[in-house]
Amino acid sequence: MVLNSSIRYATDSLCIDEVDIDAIARETGTPVYIYSLKRVLENYRRLRSAFARLGARVHFSVKSNGSLAILRALNEAGAGFDCVSSGEITLALEAGARGKDIVFAGVGKTRAEINFAVSKGIGWFNVENVLELRYINEAAAEAGVDTIGVAPRLNPQVEAKTHPYMATGHGAAKFGLTADVIREVLASQAQYPRINFAGIHLHIGSQLGDNEATLSAVDKLLDLIRPWPQIRKINLGGGLPVAYRFDETIPSLGDFVEALAPRLDGYEVLLEPGRSIVADAGVLAAEVLYVKRQAGQVFYIVDASMAEMIRPALYGAHHEILPLRKTEGDMVKAHVVGPVCESADVLARDRKLPLLREGDRVALLTAGAYGMAMASNYNARPRPAEAVVAESGDRWRVSRRREMISDLPGLEL
Ligand code: LLP
Repeated sequence: MVLNSSIRYATDSLCIDEVDIDAIARETGTPVYIYSLKRVLENYRRLRSAFARLGARVHFSVKSNGSLAILRALNEAGAGFDCVSSGEITLALEAGARGKDIVFAGVGKTRAEINFAVSKGIGWFNVENVLELRYINEAAAEAGVDTIGVAPRLNPQVEAKTHPYMATGHGAAKFGLTADVIREVLASQAQYPRINFAGIHLHIGSQLGDNEATLSAVDKLLDLIRPWPQIRKINLGGGLPVAYRFDETIPSLGDFVEALAPRLDGYEVLLEPGRSIVADAGVLAAEVLYVKRQAGQVFYIVDASMAEMIRPALYGAHHEILPLRKTEGDMVKAHVVGPVCESADVLARDRKLPLLREGDRVALLTAGAYGMAMASNYNARPRPAEAVVAESGDRWRVSRRREMISDLPGLEL
């Protein structure tokens, strides 16, 4: 039951690299997110080398995990950043990124965000509305910036094999611009003297179950840009899947690159992966508060909930759960649930788990992407602490303190 080289049992203790997760949890309290910087960087480098023959530049998608410790490590390793708000741009800059290493995406950028991005020297806009082009052009003129690189985002009208909430490239999705609209935009480039239409963007969904839909979208994209040879940059977005189950196999990255290479020969390729860099580098540690047995069911009520990790409630997502101290002996079928007043507050249903007692601690695995990033204060729960294990693997620190109850009323007038 080894998930990856960073999260495994050393004798009976579940460790993240060389560090006992329970030792961290005892010190920080629970729930706590813990990330392996070693695993984050390994994932980043693995992607870089898989896509090396395409010369792809990797922009980490900040929405998946905005931890500054992670952003700093990726920045030092040479990554760029994919940001979708002024907040994310600020985090990326704070982590040391230069404006030109940031791509700014988003289906509803405000004018204030566009102006902010231009003022920070953002290198690239992924554009999803025709009117946005006018705003970007005006912002550039006001700021005295000669040209801004723009990549219209193609909605290729393909169905990605993924959860419906994560499919973005079909006709009914709010994302992108369809090919006919992009053709009109490209034909009217002269209206936007400050815009350099040198790229095109595509992102058909997240946790993609096969490569077929992406390849067919890429073919549509290539057809679309053929009459405009000045378009040399192709941004393929994110979406690379990860294994959430011990026995899950995911589409081969090598085959994907193999299929892309002849198509993208001569183009500059950009990527915006989030999940595939951080998901399996993070765990959410929690403590069993109560064990409830009734109506033929076993409930492990833990101190993490849908407020700290919404993926199971929102997408029916599966996250493996392991005890921090391995126990031999009887297993039981149990539901792992949180304290929040919602029937959807179930982290795992019908899971075969060891017999646990109050005070035992567990880890929810593959929690590094869209975990803390989507955490809320629902039920007035302070958001959890985050800790990172250094790349050396033997040292850790709290990288973000747990919110305190006194933080919660702070914004009320
Ligand atoms: N680029 C664009 C334009 C995106 O919309 C996204 C993700 C990414 C890149 C990064 O995708 P990734 O490599 O992480 O798949 N909250 C959901 C996932 C939502 C993804 C949103 N967009 C989840 O928890 O699974």
